[in-house]
Amino acid sequence: MFKRVLAVASLVATALAWDTICAVKPLGGGQDDGPSINAAFETCSSNAAIILDGYYSVNTLLMATGLSHVDVVLSGTVQYTPNIAYWSPNSYYMTFQNATTFWFLSGEYIHLYGGGTIDGNGQVWWDTFNTTGNAGTAGGSSTTFARPVPLTVGNASNVIIEDITEIGSPFWNNFVYQSINVTYSRINISSVSYSSAPAANSDGWDIYRSSYVTIEDSTINNDDDCVSFKPNSTDIVVQNLACNGSHGISVGSLGQYAGETDIVANVFVNNITMRDAQNGARIKVFGGSPYANSTSGGGTGYVQNITFQNFYVYNVDNPMYIDQCYSTPAATCEEYPSTLTISDIHYINVTGTSSGEEGSVVVDLECSAECEDITATGTHLTSPDGTATYICENIATVNEVCLLIVHMGTPADGVRPGQLDFNCTAPS
Ligand SMILES: *[C@@H]1O[C@H](CO)[C@@H](O)[C@H](O)[C@H]1NC(C)=O
Ligand SMILES: *[C@@H]1O[C@H](CO)[C@@H](O)[C@H](O)[C@H]1NC(C)=O
Ligand SMILES: *[C@@H]1O[C@H](CO)[C@@H](O)[C@H](O)[C@H]1NC(C)=O
Ligand SMILES: *[C@@H]1O[C@H](CO)[C@@H](O)[C@H](O)[C@H]1NC(C)=O
Ligand SMILES: *[C@@H]1O[C@H](CO)[C@@H](O)[C@H](O)[C@H]1NC(C)=O
Ligand SMILES: *[C@@H]1O[C@H](CO)[C@@H](O)[C@H](O)[C@H]1NC(C)=O
Ligand SMILES: *[C@@H]1O[C@H](CO)[C@@H](O)[C@H](O)[C@H]1NC(C)=O
Ligand SMILES: *[C@@H]1O[C@H](CO)[C@@H](O)[C@H](O)[C@H]1NC(C)=O
Ligand SMILES: *[C@@H]1O[C@H](CO)[C@@H](O)[C@H](O)[C@H]1NC(C)=O
Ligand SMILES: *[C@@H]1O[C@H](CO)[C@@H](O)[C@H](O)[C@H]1NC(C)=O
Ligand SMILES: *[C@@H]1O[C@H](CO)[C@@H](O)[C@H](O)[C@H]1NC(C)=O
Ligand SMILES: *[C@@H]1O[C@H](CO)[C@@H](O)[C@H](O)[C@H]1NC(C)=O
Repeated sequence: MFKRVLAVASLVATALAWDTICAVKPLGGGQDDGPSINAAFETCSSNAAIILDGYYSVNTLLMATGLSHVDVVLSGTVQYTPNIAYWSPNSYYMTFQNATTFWFLSGEYIHLYGGGTIDGNGQVWWDTFNTTGNAGTAGGSSTTFARPVPLTVGNASNVIIEDITEIGSPFWNNFVYQSINVTYSRINISSVSYSSAPAANSDGWDIYRSSYVTIEDSTINNDDDCVSFKPNSTDIVVQNLACNGSHGISVGSLGQYAGETDIVANVFVNNITMRDAQNGARIKVFGGSPYANSTSGGGTGYVQNITFQNFYVYNVDNPMYIDQCYSTPAATCEEYPSTLTISDIHYINVTGTSSGEEGSVVVDLECSAECEDITATGTHLTSPDGTATYICENIATVNEVCLLIVHMGTPADGVRPGQLDFNCTAPS
């Protein structure tokens, strides 16, 4: 039924150090190229190159598992069909927030590059979501509207993704799922809606149960987190990004489920330009809960050793933001402070102008339990009218003279915790 054209050029391959090359020929006329691409992933799964240099219309789940030492040279365009009826039950379901994907890329030593484009055809999905309000759940009994992730690097190690443009993602653009040592460089993301429906949930990257991930030298135009560190993201570097229209670089949300342990640690974020955004450098953690079965707070774990350095904000609502009572009623947090700790957080050279959306507030660090070892140097932030207010709650600090931890609780107005370079105000 499907014409498979795989040119195996072994002579060329030998010269180029691959055993096999699979050049996938597009069928054209809107026919589904998914089966041909999957066939290439099977034939060229080891010491091989897969060439995607045409325009491919894809209406079949792309499953690339068990790859080893494979180059995927994408100089053309992979465009997924906006076929909600097909994709909702048939995209690959992953065990985090009901996320599903069009393309599961898995194995070791995978190199995806080539200057090409992955087109998620997101507009139809955003418009439908806006109209129906359906959050896009797969799994369970709801397989009627699942918005897939265009590219998931899952159960993988030693992966490099470079020089790729991603447009129109129905959901998160990239998901790093249960993987180790993944680097993204020079990725150009554009999830911009041309209707009144927002490009909902169009995160640039979500990282989950993964470590040693680098994201660098990229531009992101979207309408949700630029980069989001979900549970168990460790040893991450994010640098040289221009984010526009996003919800910021976000740790979390974490601690939503009682009985679950969420860890985000050893994250270095450097040289970020953040424009027209809801947040700049953000950490969001749920409050506590009295219920062992809670799905709205009460989880444990920690956020530790996070540095936000050389962060330039323009028209950003909350440039520097910690909320350890995220999506939790204030009274609940007071009685049951968060059981997920936040410590060793460093802001270096966070500069620029807020949007004024929060009045003169440019810094808002609110912890329901005590947050320890929070430092800020080189902070130069103002609201549009030139004023600046810095809110802190439950930030412990280290006394610079005797190096004792000083438990500030909620500071009196005008008190400057030793390791912050601004004077704090209590929340009103
Ligand atoms: C996942 O889907 C199930 C079943 O449809 C639903 O009950 C649950 O709320 C969804 N979870 C999220 C995080 O969307
Ligand atoms: C990914 O790993 C998980 C957990 O080890 C496993 O359940 C799942 O089947 C794997 N998925 C694929 C497509 O390899
Ligand atoms: C990480 O992956 C890259 C690309 O495959 C590889 O060159 C490098 O050796 C890997 N690093 C480690 C520590 O395994
Ligand atoms: C990114 O891609 C968009 C859409 O294809 C394009 O308009 C823009 O020029 C690209 N930007 C960069 C920096 O490559
Ligand atoms: C999106 O939803 C809003 C609010 O319901 C509605 O006013 C608007 O027309 C919708 N836009 C589209 C493209 O469906
Ligand atoms: C900072 O990131 C921008 C991209 O947003 C890049 O053009 C610039 O070269 C980077 N600066 C340094 C010192 O790497
Ligand atoms: C940022 O996004 C806004 C709204 O989508 C757009 O008008 C503007 O051109 C974008 N700026 C850049 C630098 O891409
Ligand atoms: C995160 O890692 C910790 C420690 O290994 C583990 O106990 C916990 O179950 C993990 N959480 C998730 C959500 O995978
Ligand atoms: C803190 O995180 C950074 C960035 O990932 C890492 O280089 C450093 O080793 C970490 N420090 C500790 C004490 O783990
Ligand atoms: C959670 O536990 C509480 C108290 O034990 C109970 O009232 C509630 O019905 C439980 N909720 C769920 C979703 O199981
Ligand atoms: C912080 O900014 C100052 C002034 O621009 C600069 O000298 C210093 O190198 C920056 N610090 C870091 C760690 O980049
Ligand atoms: C911070 O407060 C101290 C007094 O506690 C005051 O001397 C200093 O000028 C204030 N700094 C700023 C930037 O307002």
